[in-house]
Amino acid sequence: MGISLGLVGVGMFGRSFISLFKNHPDVDRFALCDLRKDRLEYWADKYDVSETYRSLDEICKSDIESIAIITQPWLHARQAIKAMKAGKHVYCAVPAAQSIKECEMLVKTVKETGMIYMNGETSYFRPEAVFCRKKAEEGAFGEFIHCRAEYFHDLSHGLEEVAKNRWGEDWGRDKTGGIPMHYPTHSICFPVSVMKAHMIKVSAQGFIYPNDDWFREDTIYRNVFSNETAFFTMSNGATALICEFRRIGHPGCERTSGIYGTEGSFECNLAGAVWADKNGRQIVNPTRHHEWLPEPLATNLGGHGGSHAYLVHEFVDSVKKQRLPRINVWEAVRYCAPGIIAHQSALQEGRLLKIPDWGDPPE
Ligand SMILES: NC(=O)c1ccc[n+]([C@@H]2O[C@H](COP(=O)([O-])OP(=O)(O)OC[C@H]3O[C@@H](n4cnc5c(N)ncnc54)[C@H](O)[C@@H]3O)[C@@H](O)[C@H]2O)c1
Repeated sequence: MGISLGLVGVGMFGRSFISLFKNHPDVDRFALCDLRKDRLEYWADKYDVSETYRSLDEICKSDIESIAIITQPWLHARQAIKAMKAGKHVYCAVPAAQSIKECEMLVKTVKETGMIYMNGETSYFRPEAVFCRKKAEEGAFGEFIHCRAEYFHDLSHGLEEVAKNRWGEDWGRDKTGGIPMHYPTHSICFPVSVMKAHMIKVSAQGFIYPNDDWFREDTIYRNVFSNETAFFTMSNGATALICEFRRIGHPGCERTSGIYGTEGSFECNLAGAVWADKNGRQIVNPTRHHEWLPEPLATNLGGHGGSHAYLVHEFVDSVKKQRLPRINVWEAVRYCAPGIIAHQSALQEGRLLKIPDWGDPPE
């Protein structure tokens, strides 16, 4: 017997998950939900989905057992909490939370309700992250020393349109900007998930683009940094350098450019990936088919390095087997809390700040 699942948010990103969730062999009943009637009707018709809901509140009152939330980033934590309190298992797009208070509330709600929560961090299932986790399990890195990871996405590469689309009718000059370190999860996932360690301290700096008309003081974010760079100390004694750049002459990437250990190292750039040790180096090509998947997902992996299908399967399988997902709430807050504190450090010219942690998941 399979599960029932409703996808909330069929916007620019959510729509690419419709066929993956709907066609997963363990999803017996599938529904779509969106506040926007035009979007809901269009995608329900296109994918032949007969069960639809006009709001999160409405779907929470139904007997659907699990919900995938792919709504605007500032809604995630409170919507996930609402759904879990309504007795739903939750998959939620990144970032899990945008404040320390939200991180705290998310963990508390998972503990109190006992519902399954999974975060949809695409970097977790990128081939390079999986490759490095396997090397780590084999002990090939030795002791971890350092990781560099970055999310480069220039504003001119669709980000202005994304922001306008997300705000819709509420769009205005006060909504430009955003805080780069409040969306750090694609990069922070690499050191945290590969080293199985978390960030404990940070010192960060912000870059101000001359005469910036997007990142300004007079927006709801009150942020002038287009680019933020943070240096972290990790719980295993290693360090990590995270770059979140939104104004950069670069085609864009979500990657680790290097993970270094006392015995072996991984490096990656636009030209490709290399595994190195004290004897030399070898070009590697981490595969997208790194783990078993059911059909039809195995032949239709989806975007972000083929990670979409693995995310969908991980959540559906967790709900079906009532097991802890790998990107559970304790892991998810370790991807976003460090960025929230890093921004505070950048506002204080790099003051060294401690990062809260909510511990490991229970056994
Ligand atoms: N690599 C990645 O992991 C990745 C990439 C892109 C986007 N994202 C995430 O995906 C999320 C969605 O981005 P998008 O560009 O698709 O946004 P979007 O604005 O296009 O879509 C969001 C949709 O959610 C709907 N919605 C909001 N509140 C609702 C409610 N209460 N009930 C029902 N529907 C509701 C909106 O009507 C809208 O259609 C973002 O949070 C973003 O961070 C992640």
